[in-house]
Amino acid sequence: MTLLETISLLRTQIEADISGLTSREDAERFRLTHLVKKGTLQSCVDGLRSVPKEDKPVVGKALNELRALAEAGYQEALDTYGAPAPIPSIDTTLPARGARSGAIHPITQSIQKLVEIFGSMGFEVAEGPDVEDDAHNFGKLNFADDHPARDMQDTFFVENRERADVLLRTHTSSVQVRVMESMKPPIRCIMPGRVYRNEAVSARSLAEFHQIEGLYIAKGVSMADLKGTIMEFARQFYDAHAEFRFRTSYFPFTEPSCEIDMSCFLCKGDGCRICKHSGWLEICGAGMVHPNVLRACGIDPEEYSGFAFGFGVERVVLMMTGIDDIRMLYDNDLRVLGQFQ
Ligand code: PHE
Repeated sequence: MTLLETISLLRTQIEADISGLTSREDAERFRLTHLVKKGTLQSCVDGLRSVPKEDKPVVGKALNELRALAEAGYQEALDTYGAPAPIPSIDTTLPARGARSGAIHPITQSIQKLVEIFGSMGFEVAEGPDVEDDAHNFGKLNFADDHPARDMQDTFFVENRERADVLLRTHTSSVQVRVMESMKPPIRCIMPGRVYRNEAVSARSLAEFHQIEGLYIAKGVSMADLKGTIMEFARQFYDAHAEFRFRTSYFPFTEPSCEIDMSCFLCKGDGCRICKHSGWLEICGAGMVHPNVLRACGIDPEEYSGFAFGFGVERVVLMMTGIDDIRMLYDNDLRVLGQFQ
């Protein structure tokens, strides 16, 4: 059979195939049979080599016409039935990667736990602004005008064209003031939040950290209520069999003031790494709200009394985990954070 005869037969076949194209899949099959490199048309082209020179124009022309016909038929089927589905760029047969779940940051976890425990004792959560004024952070808390805590070295001041007393709160006691100004006793609030101090960052201190403040104002509140509240909290949070030590201390906004220690929950007082071999852990600063503070916030100290306490949340996390560098809580290293699921 000459190549011309083969082409003629192929033409009959291609015409029949074209008239049978009724789907995208048909068109694809047609392309794979006739139009690709290993298809029928190309094998005719390959055959051209052995056609005598004088016959080449006729055979070549017939072949070109057939290719045009086949391509037009294919194109028409594509236009009618759509292009073949693209080869997917992802391999859907690969096994899936396991989903990694996130976790709540240990600082937030601790705040949630503390809020829950104090909540069970009737304390509500109150919040205040991070950017404060001098009155709420110092003045109404009975800090003398020349108190060193107002010093530029401790406090971050915020530039403000209208006033010079804008600052980032240095403790959550500012929220005490806001709560007393806006609520009528009895008041029982717990106030978690960020605080800021212009301190060098080290393994033991940060310039930005968290505190939790507690405040209870009502008729006849005494130091005994303070002791009972803190002991109940510490026994729920740290150690059901803890012993306590109340040391006298000084804060401008409380009188009397104290610092409260608890027997180390790890060594039970024998001395270990967590308690720096003292057997005791300092858990908070506290005291009876100073009459000057009550007065400055519009509460009559003759009628009401109250206690306040406050402590740093990061320190709690360090104690509970045995981590000895506070910066690790802020490095966002998943090898550390992943351990607090
Ligand atoms: N505000 C104090 C501090 O930042 C802590 C404190 C709060 C002490 C309430 C007594 C009462 O150190």
